[in-house]
Amino acid sequence: MNAHDSERMHGVLESLGYAPVDDRDAADLIVFNTCTIRGSADARFMGNLGEARRIKRERPDTVVAVGGCWAQSQKQNVFTEFPFVDIAFGPGEINRLGEFLARERIAPVGAFTLDGRFSGELPSHRQRPHQAWVQISVGCNCVCSYCIVPFVRGRERSRPLDEVIAEVEAQAADGVVEVTLLGQNVNSYGRDLSADTRVTFAQMLAAVSAVEGISRVRYMSPHPKDIRDDVIIAHRDIPEVCEHIHLPAQAGSSRILKAMRRTYDRDRYLALVRRIRAQLPDIALTTDLIVGFPGETEEDFAETLSLVAEVGYDGAYTFIYSPRPNTQAGDSMEDDVPPEVKGERIARLIEAVHASARQRLGRHVGTTQEVLVEGPSRTNDKLLSGRTRHNVTVNFAGTAPVSACVRVVIEGASSHTLAGRMADVAAPVGA
Ligand code: 5AD
Ligand code: SF4
Repeated sequence: MNAHDSERMHGVLESLGYAPVDDRDAADLIVFNTCTIRGSADARFMGNLGEARRIKRERPDTVVAVGGCWAQSQKQNVFTEFPFVDIAFGPGEINRLGEFLARERIAPVGAFTLDGRFSGELPSHRQRPHQAWVQISVGCNCVCSYCIVPFVRGRERSRPLDEVIAEVEAQAADGVVEVTLLGQNVNSYGRDLSADTRVTFAQMLAAVSAVEGISRVRYMSPHPKDIRDDVIIAHRDIPEVCEHIHLPAQAGSSRILKAMRRTYDRDRYLALVRRIRAQLPDIALTTDLIVGFPGETEEDFAETLSLVAEVGYDGAYTFIYSPRPNTQAGDSMEDDVPPEVKGERIARLIEAVHASARQRLGRHVGTTQEVLVEGPSRTNDKLLSGRTRHNVTVNFAGTAPVSACVRVVIEGASSHTLAGRMADVAAPVGA
């Protein structure tokens, strides 16, 4: 969501006549798009802000704007603590960036409402010509006890289907073949829409898949409590919906899940995994996991490790618990797992995830996969790199333009990537 917001900021600034420069010291305007999901994001940003202070001191005409979730969490405090900031705005105010830039010459501008327009209505600068993010909802009505997102992004608001489809149609006409539908909890999409415009997330998947030119549809992230069978069936029956579900578990211990207020327990999560695998035996499952939540014992953590083995994830994002202000856990639970225990647990967890992923990715060896070409491989520029429908990066030998869809014979697997060679001459998407 944050990366998508950055693309929008980039697009808005371009439409106002700004162009990016490589060197921050040469910029007339510095815009930060901040994240505040964990303390480490804040800490990294403090370093950047220190740089901006120096630049502002040396070149007082430089405009410093701070957008995103950290700004939203601080509101007017930004100006008291960092007086060299000219503009501070929350994630719901990106559409007003142009107005802020005009007003800033008169006085500092702070804007933090959360009921503004969707950034999806704004011009965008896509990082990849063939791949687009599409916001279908913003905000979150869940109350996960560790999570600051509801505080900084507000309550969930769904974007009407016709707006989403109009955006995807425009993107397809502009060369996009793969879309990722974005929301904090995509599966609760539509519940806040009026009865005459309300559609389910499964209907949304079908409608987006039907747009001419779109060959891959992904989404991020569903909440396990809200995945219903119609979504699983959509994966099975709609060819465009990709063979991957990101299914954030957060923990393997029911006791910790309860304290996290995730509203499912280990058994219910595993039952969902079985329901998915019954219809989609080859689907890739990935997840988010947190270690060191308040009160997490060695036994609780062992249940997270065993969950990884039992589910057989194709990959996972792993995080050390970070107490956040304005969250239930951050405000009222003691952060009682010592840092060295957290460090040791995350190392063991990463090892378990790698073992699972290596095994899962290994199943692709010997198969032929459809790969969407992204460009030269990062590690070896003689190879190309692209992504399979399971969302795995493949480095492969062959010649094909960026955005082509090619068939690649998979010859090797690690815990993160596949290796192979092109099976045939690049065919244009849809051919
Ligand atoms: N500490 C650690 N990880 C967190 N996440 C969200 N809040 C926290 C926190 N306070 C993780 C969750 C979520 C992902 C986006 O970030 O795993 O799914
Ligand atoms: Fe945060 Fe939970 Fe909402 Fe995800 S579902 S954004 S973890 S509150």
